[in-house]
Amino acid sequence: MDEYPEKRMYLYDFTDGRKHHLKKIISFIMTGTLLFALTACGGNPQPSNTAQNTEEGSSAPEQEERTEIQDSSIEEPEDAVTSEAAEQNNILVAYFSQTGNTETIASQIAEYTGGELFHVETVTVYPDEYNDLIEVAKQEQDNDERPQLAAALENMDGYQTIFIGFPNWWGTMPMAMFTFLESYDFAGKTVIPFCTHEGSALGRSERDIAELVPEAELLEGMAIRGSNVDRAEDDVVSWLEGLGFYNPADGD
Ligand SMILES: Cc1cc2nc3c(=O)[nH]c(=O)nc-3n(C[C@H](O)[C@H](O)[C@H](O)COP(=O)(O)O)c2cc1C
Repeated sequence: MDEYPEKRMYLYDFTDGRKHHLKKIISFIMTGTLLFALTACGGNPQPSNTAQNTEEGSSAPEQEERTEIQDSSIEEPEDAVTSEAAEQNNILVAYFSQTGNTETIASQIAEYTGGELFHVETVTVYPDEYNDLIEVAKQEQDNDERPQLAAALENMDGYQTIFIGFPNWWGTMPMAMFTFLESYDFAGKTVIPFCTHEGSALGRSERDIAELVPEAELLEGMAIRGSNVDRAEDDVVSWLEGLGFYNPADGD
């Protein structure tokens, strides 16, 4: 869709949409159940998703250890779990997001694949005002610009699968994602696009990505309506399952 109606109004959702509270409660209950079962069997309880605590855990008093494990299951930052799994899975979730919709989906993908998040941001900040933003974005596209990115990814070689996330801007990716895709060597890697949008779905972005990273394997992308991101978690899970990438760190 080349003609994007400038006057079209969207209900942006500024909540971050992540369901951390529920996840932590479920994690707490599951950890408690596991510890009870292991204790009843005379076993030595271990957290299911970390190998590094094994030695310390075996010599610590049982009550203290349980408390530590419960504490770590509640307090441990999600990023730490994600990073550990990401090292094993070699999955990167690189995304651009101006108003948070794509970021919500990117976070879910990272959580359910064990991937590592990378937020693609430009040196020049985009205008907050909607009409100004769409004008700037249109100009960038018309001029085939490559906006300078604020940060570089240091270890692209360490990733085999890269999810590429973006809002549909004027029918394709924001030009910052063109910069991102041209900045690294994707040969032999698997690239999986996802976007949020308000009607155009992935538009012509898959074709553009294929041209930008011709030596990568491009898998089927996913498009979620921006106004639906808070109800899209099941769709994200189904899509990841279909691709064979559903691998949540905590096994839920
Ligand atoms: C500059 C601009 C251009 C857009 N162009 C389109 C478009 O061509 N087609 C469409 O369906 N949505 C379009 N949208 C709507 C966004 O794709 C949608 O609101 C998206 O969810 C925003 O994602 P974000 O919150 O991650 O930035 C556009 C929005 C902006 C700001």
